[in-house]
Amino acid sequence: MIVLKLGGSVVTDKDRAETLDGPALERAADAVAAAVSSGAVERLVVVHGGGSFGHHHASEHGVSTTEGTHDADAALAIHGAMKTLDEFVLEALLERDVPALPVHPFSAAHRDDDGDLHLSTGQVQTLLAEGFVPVLHGDVVAHAGEGVTIVSGDELVAELATALEADRIGLCSTVPGVLDTDDAVIDRITSFADVEAVLGGSDATDVTGGMAAKVRALLELDARASIFGLDALESFLEGDEPGTTVE
Ligand code: IPE
Repeated sequence: MIVLKLGGSVVTDKDRAETLDGPALERAADAVAAAVSSGAVERLVVVHGGGSFGHHHASEHGVSTTEGTHDADAALAIHGAMKTLDEFVLEALLERDVPALPVHPFSAAHRDDDGDLHLSTGQVQTLLAEGFVPVLHGDVVAHAGEGVTIVSGDELVAELATALEADRIGLCSTVPGVLDTDDAVIDRITSFADVEAVLGGSDATDVTGGMAAKVRALLELDARASIFGLDALESFLEGDEPGTTVE
């Protein structure tokens, strides 16, 4: 089973509010469709980020993974923008005969008063077993003591990979992998100490993204993870390990 995240900045134009990067989304959907139709991938869960859909509304309303809001209109603005992006992603997959179906985290997850995320995965597991490709996305979630906060695609990937015992994780990003100080792709990372100098150590504020946070979270998971660019998505889905492998 593979959990694939399509980074929000891969499928949207991050500099313009609520703007899709249509050609990039089509390339990503082509790669997924090729791997599904050839049988290279049998069980796949797709997660996509927010890009210019989620982050724009989240920052406008001052909402992050830790800072919440009790303003229902603000929560709905963020959730609505993410559902709009999700519809584009689903449409691109369905047009290519990928049996994609949405699972919206707002209705499937919450955070407790320690901020820990709880995601129900029975529907994802059942959809997978029935031959569908569940699609989740960064979203708002109910958060005890905070109202609603953001759940990032990366957090969902970690939860899903653990709960569903994923074999592989793919993070399709705007960079071809984790880069060293000469901008060369680092082939393999097995401990954070390997890359601390390059990634700038621990940045406590870096909770919604950033390579340091991604690598740290991936190192804690059992499944092997790859971080790669859109050019390498097809080869990842076919079983290669392009970009940077984190294990
Ligand atoms: C953010 O998700 C979702 C919202 C802001 C609602 P991610 O943090 O996973 O998005 P990207 O991939 O960085 O754009």
